[in-house]
Amino acid sequence: MTNFDFHSPTYFIFGEGRENETGAYVKRFGGTRVLIQYGKNSVIKSGLLDRVKASLDKEGIYYVMIGGVQPNPRDTLVYEALKMVKEHNIDFILAVGGGSVIDSSKATAVGALYDGDFWDFYSGQAVPQKALPVATVLTIAAAGSEGSPSAVITKEEGGVKRGLTCELIRPVFSVLNPALTQTLPAYQTACGVTDICAHVFERYFTNTKDVEVTDRLCEAIVKTMINETPKVLKNPDDYGARANIMWGGMVAHNDLCGVGRSQDWNSHGIEHELSGLYDVAHGAGLAVVMPSWMQYVYKHDIMRFAQMASRIFGVDMDFSNPELTALEGIRRFRAFLKSIGMPTSFEELGAKEEDIPKLVASHPVSQSGQTGGFVSLTPEDVANIYKLCKAENHI
Ligand code: NZQ
Ligand code: ZN
Repeated sequence: MTNFDFHSPTYFIFGEGRENETGAYVKRFGGTRVLIQYGKNSVIKSGLLDRVKASLDKEGIYYVMIGGVQPNPRDTLVYEALKMVKEHNIDFILAVGGGSVIDSSKATAVGALYDGDFWDFYSGQAVPQKALPVATVLTIAAAGSEGSPSAVITKEEGGVKRGLTCELIRPVFSVLNPALTQTLPAYQTACGVTDICAHVFERYFTNTKDVEVTDRLCEAIVKTMINETPKVLKNPDDYGARANIMWGGMVAHNDLCGVGRSQDWNSHGIEHELSGLYDVAHGAGLAVVMPSWMQYVYKHDIMRFAQMASRIFGVDMDFSNPELTALEGIRRFRAFLKSIGMPTSFEELGAKEEDIPKLVASHPVSQSGQTGGFVSLTPEDVANIYKLCKAENHI
């Protein structure tokens, strides 16, 4: 295990009905003039937005709102939100929604106290020095943004999707009521579960030795997703299963299971180009990319892939030929994603082989030359992984 610092100070308010306490927590964390961000209409339809507003009214807290954040959130809405921050002298940002709403809120929080263009933080031209506090009321278990120090934004012009990681944007508090996820369409639930598994695997595939605790935490999270997801797909109101998925989604990405080990993150980078270009759901893109990435790199550490296969997917370890065990694990991961209704090929996602040069050219690897912490990839490798996403190339 390598040396690490771990400080994950988000305060979690978990359980049924807890969104009604949002106003009290905003007050406790010093918010007096709040900008609420939300998405299209799910929080209006469910009555959640009204409940959150009522909780702020109860505490006498001033607020204004901006809705319309779309999946794969855009810079354009962040600029609108930043105008509102100035006009209303906002001191606290409250996200009510999923990863997209939270990330748009985080971008607003860092942009609010910066004289330049907030995109400077995403293009790597500046590092945030301060930010307004952000809090969340989460409606989908997926991105893990409710506990993470990251935010991903897409530049409308050119569809460039880029992330920012900085401790200043880790939420000060997050309200997690699993019942709020009961209104999710099955497809969005499955996209979320895929993202949760991917957050684990980006950490699980490491070159660091002696990481048994974090290995076991990773395995527990994916095994939980495999057990609980069929339950919620069959019965969307299954509160217990929703609760496990929601907390698993948070633990998968606040880095509790990633500390003290090198991490990879190539599948995310490769996926971000797909959701940037085709505007597909991030989880759906990962369902296509991650098993193909595994197929491409497994020889780098066959025993680690065999461990995944046997401990997570219950494959019998073939000690005479562990490569067969490793390959069966990759097959079972892809089969699990298919079984919960995810696309697993370029074709099902609507991606085109002729776009591969464009995807590679806009991928950061084309500037940096190499990327990834488990296996370092070149632009040619990235192109090969996109090719493996075609159904005919699956193992
Ligand atoms: O806009 P509304 O009407 O709210 O509908 C949303 C949206 O269409 C809907 N939805 C959310 N909660 C719902 C609901 N519908 C019914 N009932 C509910 N309770 O679901 C759709 C997807 O929402 P979105 O916020 O886009 O999903 P998700 O949480 O998966 O976020 C995806 C974004 O997060 C980024 C992704 O790249 C993508 O842009 N990520 C952020 C990370 C981070 N900040 O740490 C890490 C991730 O790896 C990821 O990259
Ligand atoms: Zn993700």
